[in-house]
Amino acid sequence: MPKIRLEKLTKSYGTFKVLHGINLEIEENEFTVLVGPSGCGKSTTLRMIAGLETVTSGEIYFDNNPISHLEPKDRNLAMVFQDYALYPHMDVARNISFALRLQKLPKAEIENKVKQVAETVGLTNFLSRKPGALSGGQRQRVAMARALAKDSEVFLFDEPLSNLDAKLRGQMRAELAVMRQSVKKNMIYVTHDQIEAMTLADRIVVMNDGHIQQQGTPEMLFKKPANKFVAGFLGSPPMNFMDARIVEENDVLFAEGKEFKIAIPKKKAKSLKKYKGRVIIGIRPSDLIYDPKATSDRALDLRIVVSEYVGAQSVLMCACGDSDITVELKSETPIALGETLRFAVRSEGIHLFDSKTELAL
Ligand SMILES: Nc1ncnc2c1ncn2[C@@H]1O[C@H](COP(=O)(O)OP(=O)(O)OP(=O)(O)O)[C@@H](O)[C@H]1O
Ligand SMILES: [Mg+2]
Repeated sequence: MPKIRLEKLTKSYGTFKVLHGINLEIEENEFTVLVGPSGCGKSTTLRMIAGLETVTSGEIYFDNNPISHLEPKDRNLAMVFQDYALYPHMDVARNISFALRLQKLPKAEIENKVKQVAETVGLTNFLSRKPGALSGGQRQRVAMARALAKDSEVFLFDEPLSNLDAKLRGQMRAELAVMRQSVKKNMIYVTHDQIEAMTLADRIVVMNDGHIQQQGTPEMLFKKPANKFVAGFLGSPPMNFMDARIVEENDVLFAEGKEFKIAIPKKKAKSLKKYKGRVIIGIRPSDLIYDPKATSDRALDLRIVVSEYVGAQSVLMCACGDSDITVELKSETPIALGETLRFAVRSEGIHLFDSKTELAL
């Protein structure tokens, strides 16, 4: 029995439809990440689960019980907002204990709880400070601690790291990953950062335009994206796409484009034999390996347009016919702008999509 179930959930504001029938099951203690571009309906979904937005149609179940008629306070959940919403006049300890004091729990119990969660998030030495005297990352931890102190069954996070700088964000992401090992609770985490999604999630739910595009483990979504949108959304730098068509020569299938003709591995070719339509070929930068000796039926010849030095690796923006292709290369490899280099395509790295439906083939 799933812990949380969304069934044909829709949301409209007037005639504007934001969610088009979301079906989602979340198992006990699962860390689920909702990810997708700005405006796709992530926060709306989360706020409906929290009870901060009404449901237009469909139902939300906790342990098989419908809950969409319940007030937020009766749903036994805790939410961390993007802006943390801390009380500026209360010190850290009082911020953390706010809900417990409302419940009028015994003083000793409250003190114990505050001590315990402060330890979990690394705030023990800051309990008497006011939020104004804390860094962004520390404030973020107070918001997290306040949610944890409530002992709810379900935790909802709406982009909790989005206003931290890159370094702190990485650090907090690692701390969150550690913390969730010790806090076995249902967590639903919204982000538009695909690295956060990949590193934290048991399960990723990719949304676009109010629809779920695909859900599964990070590995499954990365290796077997269901469509071009998911393929292009997860992975950094993103997957390269080129128009191609399937041609057959001497029993071998090729994806042929303006300036390339790549043999399709036998395993994949079987299901494509009857496929006559135009296709889109997708190849991740990490599946393109610099190799001057590769044969042309398993390589792309790329003209270097821009080189971005990012340390040990450089990211090269290249042209292949009229397509832009990104590859990565060890920075010590000598290259010149305008030069054409050959990159072998790893055969497991070939993704094909129908050019009309954009579904994976
Ligand atoms: N109160 C409202 N009235 C009308 N439209 C709204 C309202 N709240 C949200 N929307 C619209 O619903 C859509 C989904 O919004 P939502 O906040 O869920 O997006 P999101 O995926 O969380 O995006 P972001 O990553 O930018 O936070 C957007 O097009 C937004 O403009
Ligand atoms: Mg949002």
